[in-house]
Order: sequence, then structure tokens, then C-alpha cells
Amino acid sequence: MGTPPHRVREVRDRLLAAGAVVASADGRLRDLFPVAIGAQEGFALGEWVRREGALRTLETGLGFGISTLFICEALLENGREARHVAADPYQFSGLPHHRTTYRGVGLEILEAAGVRHLVEFYSEESQIVLPRLLAEGRQFDLAFLDGNHRFEGVFLDLIYSGRLLKAGGIVFADDTQLLGVRRAINFCVTNLGWIVEEDSSDGGDEWMVLRTGPTDVFHRDFTQFVEF
Ligand SMILES: C[S@@+](CC[C@H](N)C(=O)[O-])C[C@H]1O[C@@H](n2cnc3c(N)ncnc32)[C@H](O)[C@@H]1O
Repeated sequence: MGTPPHRVREVRDRLLAAGAVVASADGRLRDLFPVAIGAQEGFALGEWVRREGALRTLETGLGFGISTLFICEALLENGREARHVAADPYQFSGLPHHRTTYRGVGLEILEAAGVRHLVEFYSEESQIVLPRLLAEGRQFDLAFLDGNHRFEGVFLDLIYSGRLLKAGGIVFADDTQLLGVRRAINFCVTNLGWIVEEDSSDGGDEWMVLRTGPTDVFHRDFTQFVEF
């Protein structure tokens, strides 16, 4: 028997209401926010997974797994054969120069919600995982990017997602209030023909939803370049 989507919803609602979670590894209470995505963004993310009828999804930056819960809930509704791939090198350690530690609590949350089996998790940087998925010939319908938010990190996530997604796939990018994230996205819009489907600006955490173009754009003429 598969996990019913309402079980995922119950766990997600409980966590969002509490705003905190305890990792069994150390019994310590951790605040979910501002690291995890909020309810408004989560609902938008889940809606895109549903609307696209996505069955293969990709995520960079698992963190507390709150975004993963929203994705998996929608995947369960989309079909029995749905699968999700997530990468995060710091799920079992601390982030360098940062006070956040997870001690595996993101994966524990997925276990509690009954969706751990849907998620192929890699405890590695997305910049390593995504090229490997590409070499394996994998293809996805939708990517959620919330990992390394520096320009070079997001740029690589975007470019590899563009290569991993089917033509006309969806990239949902978090934290687009950050200049480095915006600039990386601008390249994809101005040079790769990606279309902005949604651009939230609520003054806090912002996100953008992009639709990728034909994949042969990666073979365009070397002379084609638009300042961005
Ligand atoms: C804002 S948090 C993600 C929160 C998550 N979306 C949630 O809702 O709980 C960003 C995550 O990106 C991870 N991260 C940092 N660098 C990364 C990289 N190079 N590849 C993948 N994940 C990375 C961090 O460990 C952190 O967990």
C-alpha cells in the first residue's frame, strides 16, 4: 500500500505550526525558519508539480525537507511510479561557516511522513550529483533549486537542470531576492530562451518559476551571446 497524501499533509502541517523540529541524533530543538521554505512558497511549489503532472522531480538543498514534503505530496497524487532525487552535502554535518546543523533530521522528517522511499538522496554537492545524473541519461520534469545560493552554485544548478529536464520543463528557483540568484536566472532568460512563468515578490523570500526551452539551445552558435 502506498502512502496516502494526507499523511504527508499532516506531518507538514504539524511541522509548520510548530516551526521547530527535534533531531533524534542529539535531541536538540531546531528552528525550521528561515532555512525551510514557508507555507506560501510550499503551496506554490506543490501546485506546479501537480499542474505539470510531474513524475520525476529533482531538488538541490534538502535541508529540513519541508520543500520535499510539498513535492512528494503532489507526486503521490500524480502517480504511483513517481520518484524524487535530492542532493545536500550537509544533511549529516554542519554547513561550513554556518550555525545550521541537521544531523539527518531532514531525512527523519521524510521517514515520518512515509515518503522516504520516494526520495533518492545523495549526501553530496549538487554540482557533483547533477552531472552524474546527466551521464546516466536521467531525465526530469521539474527541478526545485534551493542549494548553494552563490552565483556560481545557482548557475551550475540552472545549467545542469536545463540539460536534465525534458524540453519545456519547469525550474522553480528559491531566494530570487538574492542578486547572484537573479543574475544567474537572467542568463537563462536572455541567452537560453527560458520563459518566466511566475515571479513572486512578497518582500521576503522570493521565488521564480521558469520554463526551459528546446534543449538544442545548448548547441547554439558561439557568436550568439546577450549581455545579462
Ligand atoms: C535553504 S536550505 C534548504 C531548505 C529546504 N528547501 C527546506 O525547505 O527545508 C539550503 C540547503 O542547501 C544545502 N546546500 C548548500 N550547498 C549545497 C550544494 N552545493 N549542493 C546541494 N545542497 C547544498 C544546505 O546544506 C542547506 O541544507
